Amino acid sequence: MHDSLCGHLMDLVQNAVEAGARRVRVRWTERGDTLRLSVSDDGRGMDATQLRQALDPFVTEAGKHPGRRVGLGLPFLLQAAEAAGGRVRIRSARGRGTTVCCRVARRHPDRPADGDVAGTLLLALNLAGAVQLLWERRCDGAAYRVESAELTAATGPLDEPLAIQLARAYVAGLELELKEGREHGQVDFR
Ligand SMILES: Nc1ncnc2c1ncn2[C@@H]1O[C@H](COP(=O)(O)OP(=O)(O)O)[C@@H](O)[C@H]1O
Ligand SMILES: [Mg+2]
Repeated sequence: MHDSLCGHLMDLVQNAVEAGARRVRVRWTERGDTLRLSVSDDGRGMDATQLRQALDPFVTEAGKHPGRRVGLGLPFLLQAAEAAGGRVRIRSARGRGTTVCCRVARRHPDRPADGDVAGTLLLALNLAGAVQLLWERRCDGAAYRVESAELTAATGPLDEPLAIQLARAYVAGLELELKEGREHGQVDFR
């Protein structure tokens, strides 16, 4: 079980990448009493039967993870959301893509902690590789967005230590500004 929202988020991004998505959009929005996480992809999607199976912890796609036969990502997310006064909604269409939305009560005592948001965005960018990742963060009045192509155009490929450090510092700065309530969203290293 994940102890942070970031852990759950990484699972959703991994699912999207494994579904053959070309574009993945992550939205993390905190407003009033509600925190919403959503991950949308244009991957292979699921029909009604597959969607039902996806929520069964004892079912995972054959061959997807050699060596394990349980798929716990979505069932754990459901459990965590319900324990924190929220819910999960999944919309999916075969051949079109999938959107997973999770809502929790922002100040619920059993809400998982945020986790390392900047580190998770970096991890997601690495996992996504050539997949275009759009990351949108909103916190009350403030917001920022990071697009993978735009970021790597400024830093260089994220398999270089310097690029990783630059990107991490940049995102950590955006997170800080978000928490302080300032608007931001441009990649500018000058
Ligand atoms: N974004 C997605 N697009 C297509 N199929 C998905 C997506 N997310 C989950 N699934 C399907 O639901 C199943 C269960 O997902 P999950 O609970 O994360 O377990 P796991 O990924 O370990 O199999 C996956 O094996 C996959 O078949
Ligand atoms: Mg998974």
